Amino acid sequence: MKEPVRIAITGAAGQISYSLIFRIAAGDLLGPKQPVILHLLEIPQAMDALEGVVMEVNDCAFPLVRDIVATDDPNVAFKDIDYGLLVGSRPRGPGMERKDLLEANAEIFSVQGKALNDNAKRDVKVLVVGNPANTNALIAAENAPDIPSGQITAMVRLDHNRAKSQLAQKLGKHANDVKTVIVWGNHSSTQFPDLSHCKVDDKPALDQVDQDWYENDFIPTVQQRGAAIIKARGASSAASAASAAIDHMRDWALGTEGYVVSMAVPSDGSYGIEPGIMYGYPVTCDGGKYKIVEGLEIDDFSRSRMKATEDELREEREAVKHLFGK
Ligand code: NAI
Repeated sequence: MKEPVRIAITGAAGQISYSLIFRIAAGDLLGPKQPVILHLLEIPQAMDALEGVVMEVNDCAFPLVRDIVATDDPNVAFKDIDYGLLVGSRPRGPGMERKDLLEANAEIFSVQGKALNDNAKRDVKVLVVGNPANTNALIAAENAPDIPSGQITAMVRLDHNRAKSQLAQKLGKHANDVKTVIVWGNHSSTQFPDLSHCKVDDKPALDQVDQDWYENDFIPTVQQRGAAIIKARGASSAASAASAAIDHMRDWALGTEGYVVSMAVPSDGSYGIEPGIMYGYPVTCDGGKYKIVEGLEIDDFSRSRMKATEDELREEREAVKHLFGK
């Protein structure tokens, strides 16, 4: 058996974690031969609920779980971790403006960025799920100067998976038949789910659907899918978000074998996007590293959509800039 790896999950008593923790414990993230030590972080008020989750994990007698650390201290939660899934965040409360939400979360993610910087392994892989995910990840990264740039990322994989599934359903195919869907930009309603490089059964997707469906049905459906789930379920996406978080981390750790997936990563200026912002890009992963797919041709329609979501991310960054590196 291999040495165990340490995986931190924040917001560990929340809905997404109630799926995520058990799937990781079952081996869905790193496979059936990789033991894990779970580091579970919550706020003090949720520690009783977290204790219940720990009891349930113990009751599963998972072969791969070697230990569980349950804490309300980010410095303990992030000690020597190999992976961090930052799920916990502050939800929008009554009367809270978007700016208040950004600021409340920016406080949380600046504290957690510092705790990562002080405690995590230098090659830690971090995924921010808690919203506003892209900007929360940016804040964490700005507060973790000793963690190499690019090791803190944000999740657009749920949007990517939703796009694959919507297109497959439209064409009566399986999601496996869909290749090179891209979600550019922010995990928000400005995101751009792009089919212009996508192939289904090795043929261009846009030759198989009409432009009207693409622009006026597909794109808004993917953009608004989170709201549609809340309307139907009375609660936000949880199991699908956990599944996407596992996909993101597994692909990053174990590789995509050339397959293109979407990850929000610090822009290096590729495709003319402002350097530094956490922007959803097409990537491939190999040897524990991701690489932005370069050289795709971008038409005017795509360019304007990519710009709109970039503008939103720049605005978000402006709203929280005062918390960088404090
Ligand atoms: P939830 O409200 O059920 O759970 C969140 C948990 O985080 C709570 O138990 C809370 O006590 C905890 N928490 C709050 N502040 C914390 C802190 N500073 N440290 C540690 N824990 C903290 O929410 P749920 O449904 O699990 O969603 C979590 C987040 O994920 C939300 O922000 C949600 O909007 C976001 N999300 C992101 C998606 C994406 O694609 N990026 C998809 C779906 C949800």
